[in-house]
Amino acid sequence: MFTYMPEEKILFSSDAFGQHYAGDKFFDDEIGDEIMFHARKYYANILLHFSPRVQALLADVAKMNLDIRMICPDHGIIWRKDPSKIITAYDQWSRQEPAKKAVVIFDSMWGSTTKMARAVTSGIESENIGVRLMNTRKWHRSDIMTAVMDAGAVAVGSPTLNNGIFPVIADVMTYIKGLRPQNKLAAAFGSYGWSGEAVKILNKEFEEMKWEIVDDGVKMLYVPDASDLERCFDLGASLAKKLKEKLAE
Ligand SMILES: Cc1cc2nc3c(=O)[nH]c(=O)nc-3n(C[C@H](O)[C@H](O)[C@H](O)COP(=O)(O)O)c2cc1C
Repeated sequence: MFTYMPEEKILFSSDAFGQHYAGDKFFDDEIGDEIMFHARKYYANILLHFSPRVQALLADVAKMNLDIRMICPDHGIIWRKDPSKIITAYDQWSRQEPAKKAVVIFDSMWGSTTKMARAVTSGIESENIGVRLMNTRKWHRSDIMTAVMDAGAVAVGSPTLNNGIFPVIADVMTYIKGLRPQNKLAAAFGSYGWSGEAVKILNKEFEEMKWEIVDDGVKMLYVPDASDLERCFDLGASLAKKLKEKLAE
């Protein structure tokens, strides 16, 4: 729910346009562009799943033709220098259009899936697509989620553990799924010892999120050798090529 105060031209926007920022700065012009990182992270982790409603709301606000001098959200800094900047950013984020970026999310017990993740990343880079390699034990799920929102392609790697995916990967996938990121190309990979269910389970997760699976995925028995890693490189390259094709459409 928004409240508009015509006398002062202030929009009190509740949760919208906020950030999880608590510092000694109160206004956008005091902190500068650095605040956009916090605003993006907030959107990715709090509002992304409401994106269709955000689009509808922005259209309604535009129709009202309000003269907005300042936006005061419940959380974070006040937008007084250029309130239209954050409105434009919300319009962009809520469209969920694919971006020319990729993220590789992975974890590993003994390092085999790490080797695969690095090779997938190199494959993506070989096609000149910017990529972030994120280990779920080094990055908080909210940072991973922000990277996913920004990316057009997502690769996820997990070893098989007790016929399932690695619990830390399950944690992150559950979190990502709840925020309903759309328009992603996806691919899975992982090392296994005997049954190797992880890739299949990850593909199912992608399907549930309606992400486009570009390849059946790559599973490797125990430690990958050079030719196995080449296959992982190719997986990354084909994910990146597919993203470029999609962006050219
Ligand atoms: C506790 C435990 C349970 C495992 N369960 C399975 C399993 O159910 N199926 C399977 O294929 N491999 C299983 N593995 C084997 C691992 O998937 C295999 O060692 C893999 O190479 C680990 O990859 P990483 O080096 O990326 O951790 C298990 C390993 C451990 C330690």
